[in-house]
Amino acid sequence: MCGIVGYVGSRSSVDVLVNGLRRLEYRGYDSAGVAVVDDEGSVRSRKRAGRLQVLATDLAEDSLPEGRTGIGHTRWATHGGPTDGNAHPHLGDDGKLALIHNGIIENFAALKAELVSQGFVFQSETDTEVAAVLLGREFQRTRELRAAMLATVAHLHGAFTLLAVHADQPGLVVGARRNSPLVIGLGEHENFLGSDVAAFVEYTRNALAIGQDQMVAITADTVEVFDFDGTPVEATPFEVAWDASAAEKGGWDSFMAKEISEEPEAVANTIRGRVQDGTVTIPEIEGIDLAAIDRVLVIACGTAAYAGTLGKYAMEMWGGLPVEVELAHEFRYRHPFLSPSTLVVSISQSGETMDTLMAVRYAHERGATTLSICNTQGATIARESDGVLYTHAGPEVAVASTKAFVAQITALYLLGLAIAQARRTMPPEQIGEQLDELAAVPEKLTEVLESADEVRTLAQSMTDTRSVLFLGRHVGYPIALEGALKLKELAYIHAEGFAAGELKHGPIALIEPGQRVFVIVPSPRYAEELHAKVVSNIQEIRARGAHVIAIAEAGDVAVLPYADDVIRIPLASPLMEPLLAVVPLQLFALELAAAKGLDVDQPRNLAKSVTVE
Ligand code: F6R
Repeated sequence: MCGIVGYVGSRSSVDVLVNGLRRLEYRGYDSAGVAVVDDEGSVRSRKRAGRLQVLATDLAEDSLPEGRTGIGHTRWATHGGPTDGNAHPHLGDDGKLALIHNGIIENFAALKAELVSQGFVFQSETDTEVAAVLLGREFQRTRELRAAMLATVAHLHGAFTLLAVHADQPGLVVGARRNSPLVIGLGEHENFLGSDVAAFVEYTRNALAIGQDQMVAITADTVEVFDFDGTPVEATPFEVAWDASAAEKGGWDSFMAKEISEEPEAVANTIRGRVQDGTVTIPEIEGIDLAAIDRVLVIACGTAAYAGTLGKYAMEMWGGLPVEVELAHEFRYRHPFLSPSTLVVSISQSGETMDTLMAVRYAHERGATTLSICNTQGATIARESDGVLYTHAGPEVAVASTKAFVAQITALYLLGLAIAQARRTMPPEQIGEQLDELAAVPEKLTEVLESADEVRTLAQSMTDTRSVLFLGRHVGYPIALEGALKLKELAYIHAEGFAAGELKHGPIALIEPGQRVFVIVPSPRYAEELHAKVVSNIQEIRARGAHVIAIAEAGDVAVLPYADDVIRIPLASPLMEPLLAVVPLQLFALELAAAKGLDVDQPRNLAKSVTVE
């Protein structure tokens, strides 16, 4: 939520900032702004409500003066609506400093009242402007931006990444972070700051991660990191594993379409190097003694939590231990029982989701062992966990998660098999068989993608549909929930996912003639009993006039008499099937939203990285 970029070097900073913001726009897209320190040593700023393109067009028509130092921001509004005035940067010290912010300053109201009583005047409704005004006041006292920032953060409660420039110190950008992300990009006679590496990957892949409660000061040739006491600290270096082209659309109509097409690779890359001679080896998590674990608690939000439910089924079956899945934002408010033998597995594509981060910290403080499944190198959740199992899906830019979801399931399955190995709950040959099944998924995913025309046609015929239901049993249930979530967030259509068995306990009342219902049908070969139950559920809704769209395995003829449409997926064992069944649902939501003329990459009201609670 909110994208932040900072630059000092010899390039035109406006170009660097706007390029960086383009790659960060998925983090928030209701307004954008930049500020540069120009060659005359003045701060010049421009900000506009609306998508980044509004600002870019404005800057193209009426450019800002050249400047080699600057900061840029793309906003997801929290305090104050998406207007020009509430957009960042905010100015302080009579317009001599500019500041941008990601997060929420929880004590802003008290601070604002105090500053107003001291005669300061505010231009916006944001919490951020309080930090800008405070920083200006502290600069007047200290005459030095770093010292002023140190003094400012001491007043702030909540979550913030702040970046600031000051006219009296051209060539310097100062940043501070607490509970919101910030990384450094190291260039040749130029340095960068960003909410994530996408902000600067076009220019450098050498990065430094900044820890919690740390500050940074960059010039073109120096980078200093220190804590909130001013004590210098070593930042952790890392190399970005992907290049700028991985975060480009590359000829696709949308990032989402591209990212769905990358699902076979996302699964294959997540497995790569972790399987040897029929066994799982994950060196990154060797520090965690999986044999000593007697319980697993999975915490995540949204799509990642649905991946977690599939991980639960796998870990319980293979690892023979109790597994619970909990939404991260609910977890820490109910006093959960935790001990060192509880493995708390957090799942997060961004690695910055505040709800999940807070749950990880809570688990850590209460002595549990924490492991994160994360797609973003150097992310806070990964850094704060005892171990991290990276998904190698590559950068996911579209707001709706697709390839990260299949990569998360893959990582959870690898973890489940690693637990089974450590606890000796499965004979080695069975572990090998499951690994073979998993290794076959990328090819099957390619098959699903190659036969997607039917689902596209179906989506295009349903643009007037106002409500769609999704049903599944066992591993089909989280897929039903995910199918409904995708349709809600992309096509703004009312959609609900239900466990098929729950239908007659209430939701069946929703069925009326013509109601569209997707049903994820289990394999008759692998799960005969479940298959028969789901076919009965289909008959129950069919009898009440539902229009049934079955997602069924190739060759399943038993569903034919009861389904109005059948979308085929290749034969796969029960736990592998969801990795295939989700793809038609993702494509359906994408196509339907595109047919309605909606922006599939940046759906309304959303942001990719939810860094506020
Ligand atoms: C839905 C979606 C969200 C995320 C959720 C968690 O398409 O993308 O539900 O899955 O916000 O995000 P991460 O995985 O970054 O923690």
